[in-house]
Amino acid sequence: MQPRESIRESPVTLRPTRAGDAELLNLWRQEPSVARFQPLGAVTLPCLRAELAAQNHDDLHHGRGDKFQWIIEYRGQPAGWVTLVATNWDHGLAEIGYALSTPFQRRGITPSALRLLLRELFLHTSLERIEARCAVDNIGSRKVLERLGFEREGLLRGYFVLRDRRVDNYLYALLREDFVD
Ligand SMILES: CC(C)(COP(=O)(O)OP(=O)(O)OC[C@H]1O[C@@H](n2cnc3c(N)ncnc32)[C@H](O)[C@@H]1OP(=O)(O)O)[C@@H](O)C(=O)NCCC(=O)NCCS
Repeated sequence: MQPRESIRESPVTLRPTRAGDAELLNLWRQEPSVARFQPLGAVTLPCLRAELAAQNHDDLHHGRGDKFQWIIEYRGQPAGWVTLVATNWDHGLAEIGYALSTPFQRRGITPSALRLLLRELFLHTSLERIEARCAVDNIGSRKVLERLGFEREGLLRGYFVLRDRRVDNYLYALLREDFVD
């Protein structure tokens, strides 16, 4: 994604993932703070690498493909990642997930990264509604979504299993018309 004029000075940038990022993602997924509020299933390095290699970011602009990932960089250093899963192109639906490696958390990086992505999605793709889910106890994630204008639409009871406990999630969504750049 090309930086635009207004954000050229921003320390936060996004770039599409490449197969060589698999090692990094694998390490980040194992950090306790990253896995604290979300079940990150076991995945092998070759699988991660193959999954990253299969992604084609041009598809996003042609209304096809199902999974896309970006590396969040802070002052040029890889800091975390964002995942977009397109759930229904006919209806313009997709879901985002995101995580920062531990040293980069609580520095305002995720809102900047998601703002860049949302601008790209709403300006240059046919997506109309971006959803996000988070564990109800994930205060940081809730604050990030609410700051970006996501509306909390509901409580998903017992939505996933985390360390042997079923965990409630909130469902958030941002519509194209809600997005204030
Ligand atoms: C949750 C996460 C995405 C937030 O991103 P971030 O860039 O660290 O968030 P920010 O620095 O912009 O902080 C936003 C707000 O949340 C608060 N916050 C961030 N992390 C927090 C935490 N672990 N506990 C409590 N509050 C937290 C910040 O203090 C800030 O509050 P304020 O605006 O009232 O001062 C990031 O910490 C992270 O990746 N965590 C691990 C993975 C994860 O949980 N991903 C989301 C799954 S849904």
